[in-house]
Amino acid sequence: MNIPKNRISPFDIDSAEAVSHVREYTNSLRKSGHEPKAYVMTFGCQQNEADSEKLAGLCSLMGYKIIDTAEEADLVLVNTCAVREHAEQRALSHIGELKFIKEKNPDMIIGVGGCMASRQNRAEKLKVSFPHVDFSFSTAQIHLVPSFIAARLAGGRRFFPAANLPLHGDNTPDTYYADFPEDLPVVRGSTSRAWVSIMYGCNNFCTYCIVPYVRGRERSRRPADIEAEVRRLVERGYREITLLGQNVNSYGRGLDENVDFPALLERLAKIDGEFRIRFTTSHPKDVSPDLIRVMAENEKIARQFHLPIQSGSDRILHAMNRKYTAQSYFEKIDALRAAMPDITLTTDIIVGFPGETEADFEDTLTALRRVRYDMIFSFIYSPREGTPAAKMIDSLTREEKTERFARLLEVQNAITLEKNKAEIGWIERVLTDDAPGEDGVMHGRNEGNKIVRLTGSAEPGQFVWARITDAEPYLLHGEIVPPPR
Ligand code: SAH
Ligand code: SF4
Ligand code: F3S
Repeated sequence: MNIPKNRISPFDIDSAEAVSHVREYTNSLRKSGHEPKAYVMTFGCQQNEADSEKLAGLCSLMGYKIIDTAEEADLVLVNTCAVREHAEQRALSHIGELKFIKEKNPDMIIGVGGCMASRQNRAEKLKVSFPHVDFSFSTAQIHLVPSFIAARLAGGRRFFPAANLPLHGDNTPDTYYADFPEDLPVVRGSTSRAWVSIMYGCNNFCTYCIVPYVRGRERSRRPADIEAEVRRLVERGYREITLLGQNVNSYGRGLDENVDFPALLERLAKIDGEFRIRFTTSHPKDVSPDLIRVMAENEKIARQFHLPIQSGSDRILHAMNRKYTAQSYFEKIDALRAAMPDITLTTDIIVGFPGETEADFEDTLTALRRVRYDMIFSFIYSPREGTPAAKMIDSLTREEKTERFARLLEVQNAITLEKNKAEIGWIERVLTDDAPGEDGVMHGRNEGNKIVRLTGSAEPGQFVWARITDAEPYLLHGEIVPPPR
């Protein structure tokens, strides 16, 4: 390249050209007797895991062997989460540790991507306080990572694109609105379970949440592309397909075709083969009678629903901009149960949202007792700079929040155990894991996605039938039985 090194810009090297540059580099390493290796470190939700599988796919296309530790790696990509302060702190402390590894291997290239790296002030921090990091990339720039690597290998400057965005704005550069490339290679972490993103971004702007700012506006993939991907996976022996999106049940908006989430599910459930479909996450406002009908009618769709309620108080739900009331939420739950009495239900709860009174919190406890979830994911509210809730007056002390959090868990743990015990004696179809657990015993997941510890012999990554013999708070025990007729 005939340009001064410090002016090489990743945007001057297109992705295909970049991949071949990096391949030349990895080939030269290999010829000199060094196997080039890449490590992709992932924080955050399933969406990030799916993105990391694409990053690993690109690394492998560029000639890197994928490994699972940073120590031996020539390339480290860190995929970060920004949903709570704690998630950012964890990522930053791991990124900090990479400094010492890079001191031993100065040629190591480090790129930091994902939701945290998509925020202006965090990209700025990476640039200023983490000089060992070579570049950052946003959630919409995964396909550009080869260009970022190639530019850096060619002697280009460190590069932090999100650092140039407006602070606390809707940090969504134009690339967020472009179609995300369909043809990225994927190295999947499992041979039996696959993530399939059906949409990107979120338009809901719940007042506490950073996701819409770091993942941009909602875009849906075309149904034909999704169907083709699911077909390929099923043909290759995948037994469980989890459809991913921040709000899967608003799928289809903005496409030229007239398709919504129930229609997509129905289409995928028609694919031949032995597999099951899950999806996450759904927004209560978009749970329609049609969706419930399609679930009830199609055996391939797992009878499991993750429906975040966040709070049981209408006042707090309003302040969160959740667009439903506790009562309208309960009606959706009742409709799901009426159509599928054995459905497994889980939820997300935020404790200590600004202004949450003792009465509001008790409404949340009431909701837990009313719905009787199989399991909940609960979080102490974490203010995210730039979101509306971060400007609300938060008068609760840390102690009050942790005390409420403990009470919440106490109520739920009892329910979880009761719900699990109720399954004793049931004969369930369980998908075994890709390998036995550390104790040498095969585990798997039932229809409701609960972990089942199995006795009896079972191949990995296959459906077996098991009779549930015992239940603990986070584990069922089952013995393998012949398939029922
Ligand atoms: N799109 C999904 C998941 C978003 S993040 C949904 O709408 O449910 C997953 C969970 O993290 C949320 O459901 C919420 O319970 C929690 N969460 C999001 N922002 C948070 C914050 N600022 N503090 C604490 N928990 C938060
Ligand atoms: Fe965040 Fe709400 Fe969107 Fe979920 S629906 S990602 S909680 S803004
Ligand atoms: Fe975290 Fe981004 Fe997922 S903020 S929860 S990794 S969408």
